[in-house]
Amino acid sequence: MVISSQPTGLDRAGDEGLCGQPFEADRDPASPNRNLTPLTTTVDSEGRLTVGGCRLSELARTYGTPLYVLDEATLRACCRAYRQALETHYPGPSLALYASKANSSVAVTALVAAEGLGLDAVSAGELLTALQGGMPADRIVLHGNNKSRDELALAARRGVTVVLDNWRDIELLTDLAPGLTEPVRLMLRFTPGIECHTHEYIRTGHLDSKFGFDPDQLEAVLKHLAACSWGRLTGLHAHIGSQIFELQPHRDLAGVMADALALARSLGHPVTDLNVGGGLGIRYVASDDPPSIEEWVRAVAEAVAQACRQRDLELPRLLCEPGRSLVASAGVTLYAVGSRKEIPGLRTYLSVDGGMSDNPRPITYQSQYTALLADRPGAEASETVTVAGKHCESGDVLLRDVALPPATSGDVLAVFSTGAYNASMASNYNRIPRPAAVLVHDGLADVVQRREQPEDLLRYDVLPARLSPVS
Ligand code: LLP
Repeated sequence: MVISSQPTGLDRAGDEGLCGQPFEADRDPASPNRNLTPLTTTVDSEGRLTVGGCRLSELARTYGTPLYVLDEATLRACCRAYRQALETHYPGPSLALYASKANSSVAVTALVAAEGLGLDAVSAGELLTALQGGMPADRIVLHGNNKSRDELALAARRGVTVVLDNWRDIELLTDLAPGLTEPVRLMLRFTPGIECHTHEYIRTGHLDSKFGFDPDQLEAVLKHLAACSWGRLTGLHAHIGSQIFELQPHRDLAGVMADALALARSLGHPVTDLNVGGGLGIRYVASDDPPSIEEWVRAVAEAVAQACRQRDLELPRLLCEPGRSLVASAGVTLYAVGSRKEIPGLRTYLSVDGGMSDNPRPITYQSQYTALLADRPGAEASETVTVAGKHCESGDVLLRDVALPPATSGDVLAVFSTGAYNASMASNYNRIPRPAAVLVHDGLADVVQRREQPEDLLRYDVLPARLSPVS
């Protein structure tokens, strides 16, 4: 019944005994990043899938497809898992910052802020979204390897911490300094030179990376900043990559960062924050086996505490920046099944009404997903199909060679773990409007992002008068 080609841990959801029961047999409530479905997923008395107390096919009917569904309980559980693990395993102060590039919206920010987290933004757009969602400015950091003058000015004016990535950031801030009333809170990002196993496009810790100062430059930049009166360096930052299942690279990172901390303090900087970035992976298909949030935090916290003890350093505040592991497993995307093409002896294509514009991850990183038919999750997965999107591009495939029950036009397909890097990476390729997003909780569904309309896509087109069709 599961449409991953991999063996999966999902239970036989259609079995009568499971009605109203949590869906995945091996679900770990404390570790949503290890589940294939949101925490609140159940099968109702008619054998249909529900999330957040809402029947998925009903949501599709009411709000249309494709539809991003976000489960509030799962998102909150992820936030709490980070907070609790930090409190339990790190002997000093700590703060988890939500990497909002994973899914930036006012509603998600409001939830994350209410759960006591901070936030990492990488553009004026993400920053304004965060402020609008009620995230306190002193819990926000602004990243970016090519921040504009306006972005830096906005961050400085609003009291947001600026993560210095390169000399140009320093030049621009020096230039802006005369207009500033308060010193800017600064963090310094450097490339830690740590390799990890993940897709090459989402690896950032190795030396050949566009992000951060080269470690060879660290001392020079720290000395330069010691003489700058417009800013106060309060933190160091490094991020090694994303969708990482290993713990050792993060343990290694702790030592590299503690060395940098010792250097910065020896040069007189009042550095209190050590930000180890994000990167914890999630389970997209059953064969994925990421550490739990608690295991990851524990490994990081113990390594940082130990590295500081070994160097006789006062414990810094420990910051981390999870994105994917906070929101991915809360998300489900609903599609309507449309056309079907059977190529005898070769492949069966099942096309849905979305694709690479609402989820560019398969075509970009060859990512795999798990999906079910929303109204027949327990039916036998008796055929192998390739689920294709509707874009004019052969590579627009969402799931390749997966087992599904025979699906026909109108069936609702639920693709899981789409809460991160789907809506936030969506495009209008082929002038396809971006989907709506609903937040579900206790049987209520709130639209948190309205569906784009085809007319919206024309809003920024300008037709020069000389090209106007002659009437
Ligand atoms: N901090 C920094 C500085 C980052 O660059 C990132 C992700 C994060 C935190 C959060 O990492 P996470 O916990 O989500 O792994 N579009 C790709 C992922 C790109 C990640 C970019 N940076 C994907 O869909 O897999």
